[in-house]
Amino acid sequence: MACPYLANQNLHTDDSGQETKDGKVSVRYENYLCLSKILTAQNMMTTAKGETYVHDEHLFITTHQTFELWFKQMLFEINSARTIFDTDYLEERNMLVVISRMNRVVEIIKLLSSQFLVLETMTSQDFFDFRHLLGNSSGFQSVQFRMLENRLGVRSESRIRHNGEDYIMSFLPDDRKAIIQSEKDKSLFEFVNSWLERTPGLEPGRFDFFTNFRASVEAMLSEAEDMAQNVQDPKAREHENHENENNRSTFNTLFDEKAHDLLVKRGDRRFSLKAIRGALMIFLYRDEPRFHLPFQLLQCLTDIDEHLNKFRYNHACLAQRMVGNKLGTGESSGYHYLRSTCSDRYKIFRDLTSLSTFLVPRDRIPPLNNLMKRTLA
Ligand code: HEM
Repeated sequence: MACPYLANQNLHTDDSGQETKDGKVSVRYENYLCLSKILTAQNMMTTAKGETYVHDEHLFITTHQTFELWFKQMLFEINSARTIFDTDYLEERNMLVVISRMNRVVEIIKLLSSQFLVLETMTSQDFFDFRHLLGNSSGFQSVQFRMLENRLGVRSESRIRHNGEDYIMSFLPDDRKAIIQSEKDKSLFEFVNSWLERTPGLEPGRFDFFTNFRASVEAMLSEAEDMAQNVQDPKAREHENHENENNRSTFNTLFDEKAHDLLVKRGDRRFSLKAIRGALMIFLYRDEPRFHLPFQLLQCLTDIDEHLNKFRYNHACLAQRMVGNKLGTGESSGYHYLRSTCSDRYKIFRDLTSLSTFLVPRDRIPPLNNLMKRTLA
């Protein structure tokens, strides 16, 4: 198919930037995309300030600008998913839309990680030649990046403090307001939590997945404990006992509200117990037609976390390569600060990644009753 813009090449442009021919109104490529704004926005300090021209500053600016455009696109996708989730009942066709948009977010994050490679074609010496002109400006002041984290569900109390200050202090008053609002609004994480709590099959009347699952796990654990007593070699027996104890206390965090609350208090778990049970149900019965899409969504959210973490790591490596152990222009400890953000504290959907902890052999998964089979068909 020909490019729709090239097909209109011979048209005349009127003052409003629209084109007319034979009374038809058409749009020109450069006007539609506002290229005159975008392509004149690369203001190099090394030419503006009469400083020695540094060729690579252009790449530095372009790279940051493209990142900001992609941040904008991701916010657009995540906000649309939040709007779709903002209901008591999520229709299946909407679920497909959410999945395709969240997959898009995953692909954009992957793309951004590889864009760092392009910036790495700049040597640290070339960066050094203009870094002093950046003053205190830093990616730390990217409003969109903070909005993105908050819209997804990074918790402000999990953030690593930078110079002992709240991250919000790095922003201008109007931006602060918008960022604080994005902390208060319901995040994608919170919407997903509410949606998982409504997973069909959790309620006692229909199937009561959880009581059935618990009975099956209890039987499995008791059998394993009995078998361990028959192991002759004391060392091997000790090892098995230890493993069984470990398994029991792990499953206990799923069975016992208090054990779950303790993990939440420690910051090691975020979803409500009901939501985790819902997610586990989707995880175990993903072959049932009605759980196909929910399962895909859970995978997708896990991917967002994983690739965002890789993004943070790639960025930290880039910073180390460019400035070594120097402080950042935003006055953080630089590489060391960035490295500390590549941790579980910044992961949003970690509970979903950890679901495999509760896997049981297939024959231990409680069979669905007829009513539930019909519900999930
Ligand atoms: C020469 C390349 C780069 C270097 C040396 C660098 C260095 C740093 C450093 C040291 C920080 C920590 C804050 C500070 O003290 O300044 C930081 C934060 C940040 N930078 Fe970069 N950066 C580079 C490129 C980029 C690019 C291309 C982007 C894309 C927008 C970016 C986005 C960010 C963001 C979002 C933060 C905040 C991260 C957080 O607080 O979790 N950086 N950068």
